[in-house]
Amino acid sequence: MADPGGRVVLVTGAGSGIGARLAGVFTSDGDTVVVADQDLDAATRTSAALPRSVACEVDVREEDQVAAMVVDLHERGLHPDLVVNNAATCSDTPFEELPLTEWRRDLDVSLTGAFLVSRALFDDLRREGGSVINVASVNAARYFGNEAYSAAKAGLVSLTRSLAVRWAPHGIRVNAVLPGTIQTPIWDERLRHDPGALDRAAAMYPLGRIGVPDDIAHAVAFLASDKATWITGVSLPVDGGLLAVGSTSFARSIEEHV
Ligand SMILES: NC(=O)c1ccc[n+]([C@@H]2O[C@H](COP(=O)([O-])OP(=O)(O)OC[C@H]3O[C@@H](n4cnc5c(N)ncnc54)[C@H](O)[C@@H]3O)[C@@H](O)[C@H]2O)c1
Repeated sequence: MADPGGRVVLVTGAGSGIGARLAGVFTSDGDTVVVADQDLDAATRTSAALPRSVACEVDVREEDQVAAMVVDLHERGLHPDLVVNNAATCSDTPFEELPLTEWRRDLDVSLTGAFLVSRALFDDLRREGGSVINVASVNAARYFGNEAYSAAKAGLVSLTRSLAVRWAPHGIRVNAVLPGTIQTPIWDERLRHDPGALDRAAAMYPLGRIGVPDDIAHAVAFLASDKATWITGVSLPVDGGLLAVGSTSFARSIEEHV
């Protein structure tokens, strides 16, 4: 694909859930989207439903796969201006039984993946003042269980601050969003053994509902837009007021009930 016009946006984990919606919002805005996912079928399904998009198979934990993806994009004439590090996994195993493989998987997908993808695209991002948006979680800021996932997301918030400062002289902005509960396939495993989990969660949110992928996609689109050119290094909660409540007992009650 030569001379795509508009921005080129790479979204990891775009085969499903929030990432797929992000791809839809960016293509609606006239951008070209690279739908990157380790699940090529899912990426292809997302891409097939959208204009100006390409599906790309990549496991963001693997340095050689990330490098190969960048070479492939360049050969197609695609130089990303915006990267959304969105891919994640979330182990549901209680901490005391958590296998090292699951701990490593959650850290590697969310945190190491964001490192590898952002680093690999540095030269592209600095060409015309690019932007990185990291999709973290409210788990980065408070106790909600899922320790491996939460540690990964807290690391991602730290990486967001570090890269924002390091890359500011290159004109690259780096921000994060902290979503609250959004119904997507990431909840499928939990809902299989606890079908009422999301209904109970909704009652815990000050705004009275859990989120939808559009809530996150529009916040990301704003941070990536020219309306946000003086915003860098922030981690924006998009959470229906959940973090504003701020009490540990409240957080504990969520873990008990969800
Ligand atoms: N859904 C929620 O309640 C919620 C809450 C807070 C934060 N988030 C964050 O939002 C983001 C999107 O989550 P979602 O709910 O849409 O999840 P999802 O499970 O629907 O989608 C995640 C996607 O990431 C892909 N992926 C997983 N491992 C990968 C890897 N190694 N390399 C490439 N792709 C990989 C999966 O194939 C999948 O398509 C994640 O970062 C998640 O942590 C979600």
